Amino acid sequence: MPALVLLGAQWGDEGKGKATDLLGGSVDYVVRYQGGNNAGHTVVVGDQKYALHLLPSGILTPECTPVIGNGVVVDPSVLFSELNGLGERGVDTSKLLISGNAHIITPYNVTVDKVTERFLGKRKIGTTGRGIGPTYADKINRVGIRIQDLYDESILTQKVEAALDVKNQLLTKLYNRRAIEAGQVVEELLTYADRLKPYVADTTLILNDALDDDKVVLFEGGQGTLLDIDHGTYPFVTSSNPTAGGACTGAGVGPTKISRVIGILKAYTTRVGAGPFPTELFDEDGEALRRIGGERGVTTGRDRRCGWFDAVIARYATRVNGLTDFFLTKLDVLTGWEEIPVCVAYEIDGKRVEELPYSQTDFHHAKPVYENLPGWSEDITKAKTFEDLPKNAQAYVKALEDMSGAPISAIGVGPGRDETIEINSFI
Ligand code: GDP
Ligand code: IMO
Ligand code: MG
Repeated sequence: MPALVLLGAQWGDEGKGKATDLLGGSVDYVVRYQGGNNAGHTVVVGDQKYALHLLPSGILTPECTPVIGNGVVVDPSVLFSELNGLGERGVDTSKLLISGNAHIITPYNVTVDKVTERFLGKRKIGTTGRGIGPTYADKINRVGIRIQDLYDESILTQKVEAALDVKNQLLTKLYNRRAIEAGQVVEELLTYADRLKPYVADTTLILNDALDDDKVVLFEGGQGTLLDIDHGTYPFVTSSNPTAGGACTGAGVGPTKISRVIGILKAYTTRVGAGPFPTELFDEDGEALRRIGGERGVTTGRDRRCGWFDAVIARYATRVNGLTDFFLTKLDVLTGWEEIPVCVAYEIDGKRVEELPYSQTDFHHAKPVYENLPGWSEDITKAKTFEDLPKNAQAYVKALEDMSGAPISAIGVGPGRDETIEINSFI
């Protein structure tokens, strides 16, 4: 012990990469437990900026062992290009461990993701096009390919053939595309086997042994609570469980081992892709948040949709994750507004609602009820303690904490490692 989970409390891009990296120095293992290279985690170390998609953010801390858990979906070509990129910048990636049970994003999964989105037309999800949904669908349908299959050519061939049987029918008869040849896929997958081998391990055993040895293990979520397949704004979600329970299934560690669940919470709200977003702004305030916050996707380069802070969402994240703490990020982006609206409740069909409605139809109709909090104009990027913040910024943080249901234990005032106010220690 202790095991900590660090996850997104909104729709992703809350600053999980920075928060994970910050804790990296005091952590022995950093584990990704779900998602794949749909994630885009930015870490700024000194004057160096890193964009990580599949690798855990702990890879940038030499003392830390990065782990890709069984719940992750792995595109080997992306993995290698990320490893190569870091290697060229002098980052040692040799400690990486990958679960043999993790599923592989095959080239046909990527094709199916893109073709399905095109076919959905106006009703598309706005996926990252990385093959995430189809790979998890294959896993649940029991026709997925796992990393360990690369080491048994005959099994691999049988599995790829089984997966392609149905897919080729779909591709040729419904989507009007060419069939994919199983032999070619097997050949491509086998080219990854040797290079992957040294990383492949029984990560469940290693992590449980580490916890028994009192090592510190940090589970780093991708995406966010509202993108969770069960608890998010379905169907406008990703295909995995970024919420806290996902850390257990996605890494093979029991819930009794987890002592802290930290929700990363942006001081305003953003979302990429389609789906409901009650506090979304379509005016110059939204444009200003996008510009000042640099709200452009790390993975797809799409502009992020921006809006004011939504306390209903934050309360919901506290509930479904059992959050013990929040790490509030990007407070500096709000500097300069005279007043900052915060959504404290929704109005749905004329009624005030304090909690996230479980009906998606209601959620689509939710109108934010705002309270205006006084803003501040002082530069806060050098603040080191809570008391260094202007009074109105302190009051904004306190108000968010009261509304969100868990203590705010750290505050981000800039993208760098040192641009953080630590209030309560996480470890
Ligand atoms: P993630 O997907 O949750 O890791 O978040 P992203 O990396 O996609 O997006 C967060 C962005 O905000 C990145 O560009 C970070 O460098 C940046 N960032 C993180 N924390 C802060 C902060 O406190 N202030 C500012 N200004 N930027 C931050
Ligand atoms: P990080 O880890 C923000 C969104 C996509 C789309 C939906 C489904 O950087 O916070 P998918 O490709 O997963 O099937 O797409 O989920 N999405 C993200 N949005 N941050 C992410 O990751 C995301 N990963 C997926 O935009 O709406
Ligand atoms: Mg991101």
